[in-house]
Amino acid sequence: MESLRGSTVVVTGGGGGIGAALARRFVAEGARVAVNDLDAAKAEAVAEEIGAVAVPGDASEIVPAAREALGGTVDTFCANAGVGTPGGPEAGEEQWETAWDVNVMAHVRAARELVPGWLEQGHGRFVATVSAAGLLTMLGSAPYSVTKHAALAFAEWMSATYKHRGIDVHAVCPQGVRTDMLAGTGTAGDLILAETAIEPEAVADSLFEAMAEGRFLVLPHPETAGFYAARAEDPDHWLGGMNKMQRKLEAILQEEAAG
Ligand SMILES: NC(=O)c1ccc[n+]([C@@H]2O[C@H](COP(=O)([O-])OP(=O)(O)OC[C@H]3O[C@@H](n4cnc5c(N)ncnc54)[C@H](O)[C@@H]3O)[C@@H](O)[C@H]2O)c1
Repeated sequence: MESLRGSTVVVTGGGGGIGAALARRFVAEGARVAVNDLDAAKAEAVAEEIGAVAVPGDASEIVPAAREALGGTVDTFCANAGVGTPGGPEAGEEQWETAWDVNVMAHVRAARELVPGWLEQGHGRFVATVSAAGLLTMLGSAPYSVTKHAALAFAEWMSATYKHRGIDVHAVCPQGVRTDMLAGTGTAGDLILAETAIEPEAVADSLFEAMAEGRFLVLPHPETAGFYAARAEDPDHWLGGMNKMQRKLEAILQEEAAG
């Protein structure tokens, strides 16, 4: 991998968690970094701490401001902001729409702004923080599972379409990571994710390994590869296992409700 010294990087949702760890790591590698977050105070605090610039606002419309803050170019874009919407079909239209908007369309809109310049200069890097939910599923959260599958599909499409023209794409697909989002996942997160949860810095390490190897899929939990293969090999068996876990989850929720 070429040195990142002096290259420019944007990290959306960088005001905490995985985004802050990615931003910190890029700064440590010598890049000039713009930290975006919807929460301006969080973006500014992280930027100040790590020696980056803050570009607060909605991840969907951040490219022009980030480009200006970084002196005209964005070499690497980390589409990391995400929302963990709970529920199934009964979740409201507005919740589904927010999940689509942040988890998918923010990636599409950033790429729309960036790809023409990347093709012209012959290089660019698009990092999508997806989730193992984009390869598998997340019990208790249909909007999250569906939109993360879509985010993975978009990253795959980008890689398949532009790889030979100098655009590197990476899809980061962790299981549980100790962040505010994980803390908000309640009983399902406790049952499925907590035990094997890792620190955000381990996600950054995993991305940098993949960047060095020119690898698309970033699996900070290596066991995810086995689950993904098992799902492809025998979908019914895999779904049977997921349904078993759902029944376990329902039993725990019932116990909790009974006090
Ligand atoms: N924590 C996990 O277990 C886990 C696992 C797999 C994938 N992920 C993914 O990692 C990414 C980062 O999540 P995290 O775990 O660090 O959570 P987090 O809650 O710590 O960070 C998410 C950040 O995104 C910001 N944000 C939300 N909507 C935004 C918007 N429209 N524009 C700009 N910023 C916005 C939030 O303010 C927050 O600071 C998400 O895409 C999430 O889906 C998390």
